[in-house]
Parts: sequence; C-alpha cells; structure tokens
Amino acid sequence: MKPFKGRDLITIRDFSVEEVGAILDKAAEIKKNPGSYKKALDGRTLAMIFEKPSLRTRVTFETGMTQLHGHAIYISPSDAGLGRRESVADVARNLERWVDGIMARVFAHKTVEDLAAHARVPVINGLSDDFHPVQALSDMLTIREAAGGWKGFKLAYVGDGNNVTHSLLFAAARTGLAVSVATPAGYEPRADIVAWAVEAGRATGCVVDVSNDIARAVKGAHFIYTDVWASMGQESEAEKRKKIFAPFQVNEKVMKMAGTDPWFLHCLPAHRGDEVTDEVADSSRSLIFDQAENRLHLQKAVMVLLMGD
Ligand code: CP
Ligand code: NVA
Repeated sequence: MKPFKGRDLITIRDFSVEEVGAILDKAAEIKKNPGSYKKALDGRTLAMIFEKPSLRTRVTFETGMTQLHGHAIYISPSDAGLGRRESVADVARNLERWVDGIMARVFAHKTVEDLAAHARVPVINGLSDDFHPVQALSDMLTIREAAGGWKGFKLAYVGDGNNVTHSLLFAAARTGLAVSVATPAGYEPRADIVAWAVEAGRATGCVVDVSNDIARAVKGAHFIYTDVWASMGQESEAEKRKKIFAPFQVNEKVMKMAGTDPWFLHCLPAHRGDEVTDEVADSSRSLIFDQAENRLHLQKAVMVLLMGD
C-alpha cells in the first residue's frame, strides 16, 4: 500500500484493493468516532471548483472540512472559468500556492486530470462526465452497512451507462461485489471500463455482466441501483432519452423481478416518475438518504488520508 498523503483521487482504478479497503475502513471509523477527528485538518483549506450544479457534493465536502476544523471555499462555475478566463494549468498553479487540497466537479474528465497534473496539492474528482469516484466509494460503505460485506452480494444497475456506472464498476472490481448492468442498446457503459472491471475483478471475485435485459440484470440482485437518464450536460437529449429509457424505470414490478426483496440505491438527485417511482424511492428498502449521508463520512476519510498529517 502506497502512503495516501499528497495523492490525488481521480478514479477508483488508481487505488489498489487494499487501499480501497483502507479508505472504506477509515470512513467507517470516522463515522463511528467523529470526535477523534475534530482537529484532523486544523487550519487547512479545500478549494471546491464547480463547473456543474450540486447539492450533496458541495454540502458534504464543505461540512466535512468544517467538522475536521478546516475550511472550504466554494468557487462557482462563473468564478472558475476553467479554460475560458484562465487555463486549467494556471488555475491549478494559483490554487496550490494558497490551499491544501482541491475538489473539482467538471465536464471533461481531462480537466480534473489537468488540475491534478499541475497542482502539487491533492486533487479530488467530485464528478466528471466519465466518473464519480466519491459517490461509488460512499455507496460501497452503504452496501457494507446494509449487507455486512460485498463478496457474495450482487448489485444490478439499471438505466444509463454513465459516470456513476463507470465508478461503480471500478468500486465493485476492488471490493468483490458482483455487478450486472442493464441499459438500452447504445447506452452501455464504456467497453474499456467494462473490460478493466472484468479483468481487475478476477482478483476479488467480482463478476461483471452487461446486457440490455433488465430481467437478467436484476435476477437474484441484493441491490438495485439507478440514476438519471440524462446527466448534467445532456439536458438537450432529455426528451429523446425519456422515450428510449421508459422501459428501464425501476418500479415495484422490477423490484419484485429480483426475487430477493432487494435494497434500492440512487445517487440522487432523482427524477421521480422517470427512472424511479415514488413507491420504490420511499419504500422501506430504499437506502437513498443513507447513501447521501455516507458521502460526508467517506469524503472526510478521503480528505484526512490525502490532506492530513
Ligand atoms: N450525488 C451527487 O453527487 O449529488 P449532487 O449532484 O447534488 O452533488
Ligand atoms: N449521472 C449524474 C450524476 C449526478 C450526481 C450526472 O452526471 O448528472
């Protein structure tokens, strides 16, 4: 295991099985004993760059820094002006002179990679068009809390093969959770990411399946996960996607098809009535607000490991 201090978190793939386990164990420990970490980032500052909107990511990173006795600065899409007002490299070279870490939510994944390449302080990916690592890591915490572990359990992801799907595939490969993805034809997760997960998953016993068949994906699943049909930046495709994705709605019928009384997961925000019904989102099997809460604990762990002493 390489030391965490000073590293970036751009994708889960960059962390070994042991390192992912250590991040998740640290998150569980911080959740249980928050008082022991009250001064963990005393006097430290996190710059939070947003090219896209956010509720959970902004509030959990900012609250996390406050709880660790540090400080967070919100940089709005217009203030960041990444690549427009100033080059990404120059933004990174300014920020590193003032702050102890950078969290960025961006469109092009290359933007967060470029920030990391040009800043000597840790850079954390708070969502890019291709990945959402802190979401998937938080979800692994939620899954372990509900099921008691990852190995021997199956997650079915139903809907768009997007940034969240990609990070769930990486996280599953590192934890041993089995993943079955069902998407409409043409909306599958990226083939190179699936291939990586299949290969890396051999070490942990993670089995990956990708198809266009909901019944096949959810059969025997312990968790059913979905996300919006049109992600941030795809608003112009929303109407077209609504028609294509309609058969992929997670409703009571789909939940029953699992035959296992599965838990329901969603990274949020949810478009209720589209990818999920109220009935499922508000059911006793829904863990959506536990997932949202765990963003806080997981990201505190990430910041303590990357930015702490
Ligand atoms: N799940 C998530 O990242 O939520 P926000 O877009 O509100 O940050
Ligand atoms: N796939 C969604 C996730 C939001 C947290 C998006 O990128 O908009």
